[in-house]
Amino acid sequence: MPLISPSLLSADFGNLQRDIEMLNSSECDWFHLDVMDGVFVPNISFGFPVMEAMAQHAKKPLDVHLMIVQPEKFIHQVKALGAHVMNVHYEACTHLHRVVQQIKGEGMLAGVTLNPHTPVSVLEDIIGDLDLVMLMSVNPGFGGQKFIEHSVEKTRRLRELIDRTGSSALIEIDGGVNRETGARLVQAGADVLVAGSAVFRAPDPAAEIVALKQAGTTSCC
Ligand code: DX5
Ligand code: ZN
Repeated sequence: MPLISPSLLSADFGNLQRDIEMLNSSECDWFHLDVMDGVFVPNISFGFPVMEAMAQHAKKPLDVHLMIVQPEKFIHQVKALGAHVMNVHYEACTHLHRVVQQIKGEGMLAGVTLNPHTPVSVLEDIIGDLDLVMLMSVNPGFGGQKFIEHSVEKTRRLRELIDRTGSSALIEIDGGVNRETGARLVQAGADVLVAGSAVFRAPDPAAEIVALKQAGTTSCC
């Protein structure tokens, strides 16, 4: 069964505490926090003051996704939030190896995220150091976008790389994940599913989380 990491980007920001309490009592595993800087991606979301408020109420591990340039500047601040996973983009880190070691040095899981156009093969020489690889299955910057089909095959290739090298990295997929795409991603080897609009636009978000968790356990399509 996959871990489910609902993205708070699709929550009702006027009722954040209510939405966080809903997730606390749901079967979700992590809280996915999307930070956008208007430079690395063409949108701005929220920053540390809002995440600190979220962290006060959240009762599950925080999965922080930094869609920003120079994410290494914020490792201490992300740690201070109490984050479990810190995801940085491959495309934003010139000295990725150093950044990964610094994240692990702070006691967090180090996640590296790939944009849709970035091949899995760029991770050959660092996969053994990673705790998690996150594949973007949409172009980062917005919730509610259409799933890029190629991501299923890419997940399969990442699974092969991890298995071949004996890496213990988890595979997380972010963007356009719903029951249908989620099921195929889990069958391709995904361990963690991020879901924003699929959860928060569902008539019963907690039930949708249960359905997403069951994704891939029965053959769907
Ligand atoms: C996109 C974000 C995603 C997004 C997912 O840039 O990284 O986490 O919120 O939203 P959905 O599930 O609606 O595609
Ligand atoms: Zn994200």
